[in-house]
Amino acid sequence: MKILVVGSGGREHALVWKLSQSSEADRIFCAPGNAGTEEIAENVSIPANDLPKLVCFAKENRIDLTVIGPDDALAAGIVDLFEAKKLRVFGPTKEAARLEASKIFAKELMSAEKIPTAQARTFSSSAEALTYCDEVALPVVIKADGLALGKGVIMAHDRADARQAVRSMMEERAFGEAGRRIIIEECLRGSECSVHALVSGKSFRMLATARDHKRALDGDEGPNTGGMGAVSPADNWNTEREGNFTSSIMQPLLDGLTRNGTMFRGLLFPGLMITDDGLRVLEFNCRFGDPETQVILPRMKSDLLPLLVATIEGGLENVAIEFDPRIAVTVILASGGYPGKYETGKSIEGLKNTARLSEVQIFHAGTKRQEGKTVTSGGRVLAITALGGSVTQARERAYAAIDQIRFDGCRFRRDIALRPAPT
Ligand code: AMP
Ligand code: GLY
Repeated sequence: MKILVVGSGGREHALVWKLSQSSEADRIFCAPGNAGTEEIAENVSIPANDLPKLVCFAKENRIDLTVIGPDDALAAGIVDLFEAKKLRVFGPTKEAARLEASKIFAKELMSAEKIPTAQARTFSSSAEALTYCDEVALPVVIKADGLALGKGVIMAHDRADARQAVRSMMEERAFGEAGRRIIIEECLRGSECSVHALVSGKSFRMLATARDHKRALDGDEGPNTGGMGAVSPADNWNTEREGNFTSSIMQPLLDGLTRNGTMFRGLLFPGLMITDDGLRVLEFNCRFGDPETQVILPRMKSDLLPLLVATIEGGLENVAIEFDPRIAVTVILASGGYPGKYETGKSIEGLKNTARLSEVQIFHAGTKRQEGKTVTSGGRVLAITALGGSVTQARERAYAAIDQIRFDGCRFRRDIALRPAPT
């Protein structure tokens, strides 16, 4: 099979890495990819949002399977375009991807299907939203309806901050059209868990759970980021929660979608808050998580390729999905200043030696090759994943590997998977 992976982050490197181990994979392309994917696949210089060029490339090169990494390509309808050309593609259609691309659509569906989530109100007028800021209980969470590069969620601890968030989203349009409508919702307390499931219409199969570390600084301080590290499995998950997740979230969701004529095929990743009152959905993501993928796939013993094909073509019920019981920890090495402004083009040293360490896998994110060197090209630069028989061992291996890697301005959290999930 010839495979195309669309995207250029750590998630995509992990997908390429895992798919390259499949006995059925002949050639793998990554568009546009990074310096890591270039070592194990063929990079194609088409940006992930140039949908017409991607379709042309897949058609001309007779690609048997295309796997879409990023959310914005899905929201723009890349899957519909591929399907119209009879190209096999992994990911939900534009209609189904609204679960992630419109938080209001997701809220309305959850409300109709009685799926537990934060109490929320929707606003399309800033005047009404500002008035509501005066009476709502604090703290409160303000969310842009659309995709905003992971920055469209603001937790406000006082009324001035809440009003400022509303103004910046709805009046100043800090996130463009994504902030035309907003949600103001109750702030939930508890611990978060990332759940990944392959979904094929009404059937679904769970993959391993993971716990992301979203804040920039140690001790969960500082601004939210795309994710600074992750651990799998999540230590706040158990069989009782999995049972509740299936009966109160997944089944009603898939029933609701199919009743409305929406067929979801792809990866569904609900972000959950585990509260004293049970599970609550924070958001639905319609694609693999980043950095969750960098801890889930290294634990996956099964071949990923037939799982993706079964998700598209049916038969998901019958495939075996096995995971390594060991723990995986990934730590993100970021550019100084991320998630704010940062510099790029810094030379990265020590990658060769680190690649030789056992039970360690380096996934590239914001990297590229330049004049024979690997240099930084993004905010999140590398994800260093290690497996271990215990969290402590996995952490030790990951941080020992990090000790050998250097680039100007490199910063990372030292406490990934250090403390158990808050209870
Ligand atoms: P979302 O994009 O909706 O997942 O939001 C991003 C992050 O904001 C989540 O992973 C949580 O850390 C936080 N968050 C979102 N909604 C809430 C909420 N209702 N209560 C508390 N934290 C939230
Ligand atoms: N790590 C969270 C996400 O991929 O949305």
